[in-house]
Amino acid sequence: MYLDLIVTNGNIVTASEILDSKQEIGIQDGRIICLGESLPRQPQTKVIDAQGAYITPGGVDSHVHLAQSESPDGDNWETGTRGAIAGGTTTVLAFASQRKTDETLLPTLRDYHSKARGQAHCDYGFHFILTNPTPNIVDEELKILVEEEGISSVKLYMTYEPMKLNDRAILDIMMAARQLGITTMIHAENSDIIALITERLEKRNLTAPFYHAVSRPQIAEGEATHRAISLAELIDVPVLIVHVSSEIAMNHIRDAQTRMLPIHGETCPHYLLLLSERLQAPDFEGAKTVCSPPLRHEPRDLAAIWKGVANGTFTTLSSDHAPTKFSSPYGKTLGRKNGFPVFRDIPNGLPGIETRIPLMFNQSTGLNAKISLPQFVQITSSKPAALYGLSGVKGNIAPGYDADLVIWYPPGHQFGQNEDSDQFCISANDLHHDCDYTPYEGMRLQNWPRYTILRGQVVWDRDGGRYCGKERCRPILEKKQGGHSYWADWWHWNGNDGW
Ligand code: URP
Ligand code: ZN
Ligand code: ZN
Ligand code: ZN
Repeated sequence: MYLDLIVTNGNIVTASEILDSKQEIGIQDGRIICLGESLPRQPQTKVIDAQGAYITPGGVDSHVHLAQSESPDGDNWETGTRGAIAGGTTTVLAFASQRKTDETLLPTLRDYHSKARGQAHCDYGFHFILTNPTPNIVDEELKILVEEEGISSVKLYMTYEPMKLNDRAILDIMMAARQLGITTMIHAENSDIIALITERLEKRNLTAPFYHAVSRPQIAEGEATHRAISLAELIDVPVLIVHVSSEIAMNHIRDAQTRMLPIHGETCPHYLLLLSERLQAPDFEGAKTVCSPPLRHEPRDLAAIWKGVANGTFTTLSSDHAPTKFSSPYGKTLGRKNGFPVFRDIPNGLPGIETRIPLMFNQSTGLNAKISLPQFVQITSSKPAALYGLSGVKGNIAPGYDADLVIWYPPGHQFGQNEDSDQFCISANDLHHDCDYTPYEGMRLQNWPRYTILRGQVVWDRDGGRYCGKERCRPILEKKQGGHSYWADWWHWNGNDGW
């Protein structure tokens, strides 16, 4: 028995602590098998010297949109996941999406798998978006997807005309999710509030990108979040409210958690870092930051979400990577009529798969850190892994886990030649996703992933200018046994069987 790889001389950050630099990581067959001092080296053992840098678990991005049939100009699996590994993410959970006319889901899931297979640079799995939950799907087919196809979560929309479900449909799905022990993800915004405001704005020709944010006020998110929680409380089932942007919604989640309900929240870097003023950029550039829920208006809105990250209200922080090329025909024509912007038609979503981990790492180190490094690991890796049935496999640095690691640059590394040369400057030109912009253009960070390791193999080597992972990537959830997630376990610990 020998170790294939030892990572030495780094400060290992786990979900609970930062280990001293004497601790080495011992890897065999793609798995971490030990942590310890002076691990035994054989001639075959490769050694990577982290040179005093931090080592964190590979990121788990549990909310990305890749090659979805509704968004023709987004990233495909090749481009999206090469961005992922270049930004320190080694596992992504994307969406397979039911078209309203699909009477059965299995062929759709197969289609989505075929788009990813052999293309992805990192490990991946799927959530299923349900837009037309027929009795056959809810009562029969979902069980097959969970038990045989490794689906451990569904996503439901309370808004967007082509996708939204009414409360009864949501209740039916929650009942099934409860029986199957899967996580229900909910996009919570009140669609009637949005429709009313949108009509009124349009009557007054207020259709520029900024009015997208006006049309989706915090109260619309707050109401729908509270309703979703009420429905989940009735059925007694765990749910995750996705991409939470506002304090009012966050407070409903916190209230529910205080009452010991298994209600989870997800937020995203853009709700911590960007304000709606971005939507007012000239020349239609505001369209680049249209997303739903929208960016909020004031610094105190960002501060509120930071508070929820720091106090544990949010279980996960994901990118909600949903790119549309600004210069593509789709990005250009949609959202404009006779040369005027029409916010209702602007493709929603921001690119962010590559910047998520570096942005959050940057907020977890240095004098102005908003959270600790173990908290960074929890919210970006270990908790999303656990939420979707990957605990013990993904999202931490400990024996038994996949050897998915990010090695950062050591302190004092020079990224460039100018006066801020110890800082990394984000630029769309340097990113690896297939989108022609990043909302974080020009932002300076203290660090960037130097190496990304996927199951024991370097798939991103920034100085070597190299990324590869295709030979290594695998669909981790395709045949996962049972599909039972962390929250199913929580469920059974609490003695809840049957309804
Ligand atoms: O604006 C967003 N979030 N676009 C992506 C789709 C979704 O609702 O997650
Ligand atoms: Zn959504
Ligand atoms: Zn409430
Ligand atoms: Zn999304």
